[in-house]
Amino acid sequence: MDKKVAELLNDQINKEFYSAYLYLDMANFYSNKGLDGFANWYEIQAKEEQDHAMLIYQYLHNNNEKVTLEAIAKPDKTFTTLLDPLTAGLAHEQYVTSLINTIYAAAQEVKDFRTTQFLDWFIKEQGEEEKNSSDQITKMELFGDDARSLYMLNEELKGRVYSAPSLVL
Ligand code: FEO
Repeated sequence: MDKKVAELLNDQINKEFYSAYLYLDMANFYSNKGLDGFANWYEIQAKEEQDHAMLIYQYLHNNNEKVTLEAIAKPDKTFTTLLDPLTAGLAHEQYVTSLINTIYAAAQEVKDFRTTQFLDWFIKEQGEEEKNSSDQITKMELFGDDARSLYMLNEELKGRVYSAPSLVL
């Protein structure tokens, strides 16, 4: 595998684990506010991010590339309002999309089509994650100020269940 592509993929493992940590911090914030549905949603999101990291880890191993695990940064966002984690989540997903796009472009440049095909799943996943994040912002902006609606929103988010990623390596 091209050295730069392998390095970018290796870095992405760390970024995905950081994402998991960031989402766990959001779950932590909502849990402290008594919003267990929101906390549930972000706990599952954190699990999905670990899955993303492990898919890239496995992909590198499957291609005989060495993986180097680096330190995971401390979640650095400060949340005050109930909307804050949601807006931070969307900004973070947009950032992750840009990272995936960079890896994709690097792979395409060296005609590493196995990697672009592998990343196709992540490109689609990023689209879904950005949509979920922006839908949540819309709902919170519409209903978050009303206690009864917030209760129902929290109940709705309690229903999210974890499922393993659809991508099999
Ligand atoms: Fe792994 Fe939320 O992107």
